[in-house]
Parts: sequence; structure tokens; C-alpha cells
Amino acid sequence: MCFDFSEKIRTVSNFPHEGIQFIDITTLLKDGNAFHMAIDSLAKVFQDKDIDIVVGPEARGFAVGAPVAYALGAGFVPVRKPGKLPAETLRLEYSLEYGKDVLEIHKDAIEPGNKVLIVDDLLATGGTTLATVKMVEILGGKVVGLAFLIELEFLHGRQVLPGYDITSLVKYSD
Ligand code: PRP
Ligand code: MG
Repeated sequence: MCFDFSEKIRTVSNFPHEGIQFIDITTLLKDGNAFHMAIDSLAKVFQDKDIDIVVGPEARGFAVGAPVAYALGAGFVPVRKPGKLPAETLRLEYSLEYGKDVLEIHKDAIEPGNKVLIVDDLLATGGTTLATVKMVEILGGKVVGLAFLIELEFLHGRQVLPGYDITSLVKYSD
């Protein structure tokens, strides 16, 4: 399958802050054919890995992670911003490309030994993904892979995630 997903992704200057080039995936998500192919492309990489759970961080990780979970026949677990999950949670502070935030996951969302695929729209500095990896591993899950629509290679997110199997469909080198 050869499809140029980058044509479907829009860059918006100076959002949410001056000097930030925001990578907007809403233009890909609204295109049924591109969305379908993107989800299938990510799922295909992990289809033989016996994934039990796909974990997706709020909010854009829901839009990509949940359909990947469905395509794999796996469960979906949300990682959420604070105060959104009703049952007992594990909390972790993490660094973002432009600021700091906290993420939470339900403590009973992952069974020890579960094979977990973490899916998000974008790998930038890797802070969100690293926090998610840590939470999954604290709960006893085995992180089998990390999958993204987009990777901003110039922010070197892979360097904070050494040893993990990382897949991204579109890479921006600058
Ligand atoms: C964005 C993006 C990734 C993360 C990537 O999420 O969706 O989750 O940043 O950056 P990082 O690799 O430097 O951590 P954001 O926190 O802006 O929130 P959203 O998904 O709710 O829009
Ligand atoms: Mg996000």
C-alpha cells in the first residue's frame, strides 16, 4: 500500500502559541479513504503481535487508537487528562513540547502480562508517550510497540524511547 498521507495533513502557524507550527490531523481524519488507510496501515504492522490492549492518550490518541484497537480485535484503554477517569487512577506528570501536564490511567485497566500497543497521532518530544509507557509498565503491561500517524524527527522523540518498536506513517525532518 503506497499512499501519501502527508498530503492530507495541514500545518497551522502560530498555534497554540507564537512560533509553534501545529500539525493538524483533522484534515486527514475527515477524509474517509485516508483515515481508513491510515488506521489499516498502523494495524497491519502489529497484526501478528497478539496485542491485548491498545492504549491511547487523550485526546487525539483516542481518534487514532480506538480504531486501531478495533482493527486488531484488541481492547482500548484511554489515558486521560486529570480528573476525568471515575475509578482509582495512577497519575504521572510529564513534559510536553510546549509545557507540562499530568496524565491518568485506571489502575485496573491493564492486567499484568497484557501485550500493549500505545497509539497516538503524533510523536514530538516523546514526553506523552514516555509517561504512557511508564504507566503501562507500572501496571505490569508489556509494551509491544508504539504507533503514530506522524513523527517530528527533529524533536528526537525516539531518543527518550530507546529499545521500543516505533512505527510512524509520516515523518517530518525539519
Ligand atoms: C499532542 C499530540 C501528542 C503529544 C505529542 O497532544 O496529540 O499526544 O502532543 O507531543 P510530545 O511527544 O512532545 O509529548 P496534546 O497534549 O497537545 O493534546 P491533545 O491530544 O489533547 O490535543
Ligand atoms: Mg495528544
